Amino acid sequence: MLYKKSIPALIEEAKASGEGTLKRTLSSYNLVALGVGAIIGAGLFSLTGIAAADNAGPAVILSFIVAAVGCGFAGLCYAEFASMIPVAGSAYTYSYATMGEFVAWIIGWDLVLEYALGAATVASSWSQYFSDFMAHLGMEISSSFLHGPWEGGIINLPAIVIVCLLSLLLMRGTEESSLVNNILVVVKIIVVLVFIALGWKFIDPANHTPFIPANPGEDAVKAGELGFFQFFGSPDFGHFGISGILRGAGVVFFAFIGFDAVSTAAQEAKNPQKGMPIGIIGSLIVCTLLYVLFSYVMTGLRNYTLFDGDASPVASAFATTGYTFLNMFLIIAILAGYTSVILVMLLGQSRVFYTMSKDGLLPAFFSDLSKKQTPWKTNLIFMIFVSVFAGFVPVSDLGHMVSIGTLFAFSLVCIGVIILRKTDPHLARPFKTPLVPLVPILGIVVCVTMMASLPIESWERLAIWMALGIIIYFLYGKKHSKARLAHEAK
Ligand code: ALA
Repeated sequence: MLYKKSIPALIEEAKASGEGTLKRTLSSYNLVALGVGAIIGAGLFSLTGIAAADNAGPAVILSFIVAAVGCGFAGLCYAEFASMIPVAGSAYTYSYATMGEFVAWIIGWDLVLEYALGAATVASSWSQYFSDFMAHLGMEISSSFLHGPWEGGIINLPAIVIVCLLSLLLMRGTEESSLVNNILVVVKIIVVLVFIALGWKFIDPANHTPFIPANPGEDAVKAGELGFFQFFGSPDFGHFGISGILRGAGVVFFAFIGFDAVSTAAQEAKNPQKGMPIGIIGSLIVCTLLYVLFSYVMTGLRNYTLFDGDASPVASAFATTGYTFLNMFLIIAILAGYTSVILVMLLGQSRVFYTMSKDGLLPAFFSDLSKKQTPWKTNLIFMIFVSVFAGFVPVSDLGHMVSIGTLFAFSLVCIGVIILRKTDPHLARPFKTPLVPLVPILGIVVCVTMMASLPIESWERLAIWMALGIIIYFLYGKKHSKARLAHEAK
């Protein structure tokens, strides 16, 4: 269970080319686009309004900054690994090299929560905007076909259709998928910039005052009338004030998920040593800047209290500018944005399973490649798996599972950096995480704090998913592991 893959062997493996291997087609620009493709989506367009109304008010801008700093710590750790071990599989591969096979399996299994369920969550929200789009064209989609049975409907049909279409695109080829992604990313960045530019002069400073709405519990703690721990357990905690900014950061964290998806494509990067750090850190910086400006304009256009229960907060904020003829453009661009998130998440998922199957921890068909060198059987299986979740499970349950799974993966990557600096200090590191161990430790603290703020049911579901993974490991992976078979043959 503790067998590790040696890093020089991993690097050799990555150098292989030709039949049966992935093709190196992605430039640094493609990698940043891939990152931005996976990042900007439901988090920005749906959660900003919710976090402003429930948690932070106009200070949701600060929530974005807190979440960005947390992701930045983890991002720096990802960048070190991704430039050093440029192999498909991301966090799974890094843990195989540092913490051994069992932890690697756990993390690979956990990444299904981030990528496959991430794709399902965003597909599920995609269908709401799709129904707005159809309504503009004068066609109503019955609510029974927009929601699963737990939300009073039958099936979320548009969500299933988009998952299937994108899976088919991925099976066609990585270059084709990357091209579609680049187009979608350009469209979504244009809409974010248009929103910021047109909205800027309509900002009403009154909407930004008070910038941090008061929290009566925090005031009572300051006045010495309430103990800190009493406040921590009170309903006031997390609703405005400083605690609201922090809780808001946990909510908008979802908007940053995906920057690590860049590292799953390391084996398809033309120059991974340079491209990986640029792709990961670059996309994180671009998105943070856009998020801060976007949320500043959004809360300036419309008072945060009005976002309560608003299903399309971006459209209602934009409506105050009077440019209502642009509404259709806004919806199409948001749909494009969500689509690229689903696409990159599905891509990341198939690359993780491809690598796990190459290592023998999953059956060999997961790494069978088509003539176009895509792991099409994995794409097909996840098309079905993700469709089931997108079509039937409520979006908020899915979202929490995604966040907890991702935070767990980020924490393990941060731990991995500290371990590898101790065990292999002399390995060539084209990109070095600054201030080790401080940066990784801060990364772990931020991630675990955000995990702690998630509902208890997400922890229970995480435990069940992991238990299932451990059973499969003992029934299959442990017996077929190539690292183990090679070791025993010696
Ligand atoms: N960050 C991605 C989104 O917000 C998951 O849609």
